[in-house]
Amino acid sequence: MKILFIASELFPLIKTGGLADVAGSLPKAMHELGKDMRVLMPAYPQAKSALSNATPVAHLHLLGHSATLLSGTLPKSQIPLWLLDAPHWFERPGNPYLAEDGNPWPDNAERFGALCWAGVHLAMNRAGLDWQPDVVHCNDWQTGLVPALLSLETHRPALLFTIHNLAYQGLFPEATCTTLELPPSLWHPEGLEFHGQLSFLKGGLVYSDRINTVSPTYAREIQTPRFGYGLEGLLRHRKDRLSGILNGIDTNKWNPASDTLIAQTYDSKSLNLKKANKLALQQHFQLPSQPDQPLLAFIGRLVPQKGIDLILKAMPQLLKFPMQFVFLGSGDSDFEHGLLYWSRRHPQQMVVHIGYDEALSHQIEAGADIFLMPSRFEPCGLNQMYSQRYGTLPIVHRTGGLADTVTDATPLTLKDKTASGFSFDQPHGSALVEAVKRAWLLYTHEKDWRRLQQTAMAKDFSWRRSAQEYCRLYSQAIQDNSQIVTPA
Ligand code: ADP
Ligand code: GLC
Repeated sequence: MKILFIASELFPLIKTGGLADVAGSLPKAMHELGKDMRVLMPAYPQAKSALSNATPVAHLHLLGHSATLLSGTLPKSQIPLWLLDAPHWFERPGNPYLAEDGNPWPDNAERFGALCWAGVHLAMNRAGLDWQPDVVHCNDWQTGLVPALLSLETHRPALLFTIHNLAYQGLFPEATCTTLELPPSLWHPEGLEFHGQLSFLKGGLVYSDRINTVSPTYAREIQTPRFGYGLEGLLRHRKDRLSGILNGIDTNKWNPASDTLIAQTYDSKSLNLKKANKLALQQHFQLPSQPDQPLLAFIGRLVPQKGIDLILKAMPQLLKFPMQFVFLGSGDSDFEHGLLYWSRRHPQQMVVHIGYDEALSHQIEAGADIFLMPSRFEPCGLNQMYSQRYGTLPIVHRTGGLADTVTDATPLTLKDKTASGFSFDQPHGSALVEAVKRAWLLYTHEKDWRRLQQTAMAKDFSWRRSAQEYCRLYSQAIQDNSQIVTPA
């Protein structure tokens, strides 16, 4: 099976969130299953310098500009990777989506429109590379025009579109259709039009053979008005083609037994060693060395999705617990200031590190006792899985992938030994405080806590399981595509 995977970010070349982790891991898991998966992404400066030996293999003419396909391999692998080198659109510093002022790059429609056109050329074997995929696997709005454009072709590959986050839709004025050279036949309410605007995301949702999202619960939630952003009707209409597959995690990179970024490695049989990581973290942040006080951590983008408003509301009560708090993240300045306000008032108890720091995120996962993830919605979420692997018990809002990966500690789950964390149902500050209280109480019962840690650490979050499910989905997409009768 030949698969073309298209994404707008990929770890370790460039990353703003979990999509990059998925794009960096799934192709490797596919190769281990013997599939020929190849990847296309933009040649951002970071990607080009990391792949300095990539060579030009094709020239394309896209939306009035010339572009080059550079051929290389994913770091530490033989997996083919094509970088779309179009300096006019991608040779810019910083974030792939946002300018320095925090607003989207004004030409994002053209930038990702060009990526989609390049994807179409590759999918139809028109780039002169003598390779045609059986399936094109698109991810998020930046790739949404690929299914739309391919739907107009007679002998096209099968199409899978993965929703990593429905909140980002790629909406642009109608006039953009002309700039992007989109055939007028795609412009209608059952096509790319969304309330008078061009929606990249709808291209993926309407025209793909199969749609999936990154957890079974989120696949159900987005069919309701609360999570559907006005697309719930379309998603319900396509529910026979919509499913959920949980992301895996990179279990080599996120392994407390071999992690070179942490002060002290440990596993589920040597959990007493984990304390050395807490001490190192306390020293790093100049917090009092308190081996017996629970340390609660948060890592993530400081945006409304992640429930930062709930945390801020709960902060006065949370600070009354004999606990320490460590926050790592960046995002909306209101949230940054809100967290910094509390850390300035309680410097002995709470620290906030504004920024993005991969190594520190490992040290926090290893050093903390409890990980807080109260997201208002969460398509999958990776940190609650990293946490469980590090024996750092998560407290989560029971939504999306958080609901699917964390088993709340109740009398029943404690008894049958399936408990692996704590969850709460209502996205309210008071529910969050209640869950923290439960965690804090259980923390004092060392034996129970140890058992929860061991259950959490034994869970299988590997990519292998998810990759097998993707293989089945590709086969279904191929079958659906073969049943489409093209008009004579
Ligand atoms: P999302 O993609 O919505 O941001 P995920 O949980 O799927 O959420 O993935 C976020 C990824 O980004 C995780 O790997 C997490 O560790 C990482 N991350 C987020 N913020 C930071 C940060 N400030 N420093 C280091 N890593 C971060
Ligand atoms: C998105 C979601 C996150 C998910 C990630 C990877 O960024 O917000 O929940 O884990 O994509 O699929």
